[in-house]
Amino acid sequence: MVDLRTRYMGLELRTPLIVSASGLTKSADAVKECAAADAGAVVLKSIFEEQIEADLATGEDAHLPGRQLPEAYDFIKGHGRDRAVERYLETIAEARAVVDIPVIASIHCVSAGNWTHFARKAQDAGASAIELNVFIPPMDPRRTGAEIERTYFDIAREVRHAVTIPVAMKIGPYFSGLSNFAVRLSNEVDALVLFNRFFRLDFDIDRMALVPASMISEPSEIEMPLRWISILSGRVHGDISASTGVHDGRAVIKALLAGATSVQVCSTLYENGLWYLAKILADLRAWMESQGFSTIEEFRGRMRQLASSDPSAYERVQFMKIHTGIE
Ligand SMILES: Cc1cc2nc3c(=O)[nH]c(=O)nc-3n(C[C@H](O)[C@H](O)[C@H](O)COP(=O)(O)O)c2cc1C
Repeated sequence: MVDLRTRYMGLELRTPLIVSASGLTKSADAVKECAAADAGAVVLKSIFEEQIEADLATGEDAHLPGRQLPEAYDFIKGHGRDRAVERYLETIAEARAVVDIPVIASIHCVSAGNWTHFARKAQDAGASAIELNVFIPPMDPRRTGAEIERTYFDIAREVRHAVTIPVAMKIGPYFSGLSNFAVRLSNEVDALVLFNRFFRLDFDIDRMALVPASMISEPSEIEMPLRWISILSGRVHGDISASTGVHDGRAVIKALLAGATSVQVCSTLYENGLWYLAKILADLRAWMESQGFSTIEEFRGRMRQLASSDPSAYERVQFMKIHTGIE
């Protein structure tokens, strides 16, 4: 009998599959459907730092950021009026009341402002953990990499300070010293989610206008998290949750072999429907049986770099071998 249980940030998950922050987890009803489809946990659709700041600023217009910029001011004021914070806290409480799997609140953020106190409110509303989705686009040529990295640490420390529940940080792969950064950041949080998928732009050449690129990932996008999870597993403190490009059971197995303790899925559920969680789990179970594994811990991390007899295979030498063989 195969046992699919795993532990993620100290939370007991009945299966390693987490439905990622998205429209699939936007309400208590949606969360209930995820739980019925055998998800091990859900990450609620994110609330934005700007929404929390706008809520805090209601009635204190003088402190609103963007006071000098009418468009930004109106946008933020609009957020303040739509009760986003209150509704988010209600969703956490309602979701916790209807499912018995962990419900992880998610905050999309780019700075360590006053909003970090919201994490405590999310905890009080019943959140099992917090996931911070942070991507600070390095667009400003005056801002150094070190300054940008510091902001990630500031956010992690502020939120950590505000709560006692576990905190995960979902980051992107675009750091010049990713291993060093990830190891240091892992000392501040309970888990790293590798990786987020920053929203992408495209050009409409007929209208000569900017358009959003597809939000749905491709299966080949698993390659980036796979490489880095296998390199970082055993080196970072705490857990790693795999995210981006996990479209089927094979990808889940790969992420676990790389060392992840949980695996997040999103695009594949948009494409195939929630029932696909059951298909992924059936494929995982069948593979474990065929390999003679009865628990995830028996094979988790087997293919991480630290467990390899040929660690150089994860690095440049592999590319050299392949490249020099290609004519
Ligand atoms: C429609 C849609 C909405 C999303 N909303 C959020 C969100 O609110 N917060 C967040 O952190 N990520 C959000 N994401 C990103 C996903 O959580 C996930 O990181 C990304 O889709 C990569 O995983 P995948 O390859 O399994 O899709 C969204 C993705 C999609 C497709």
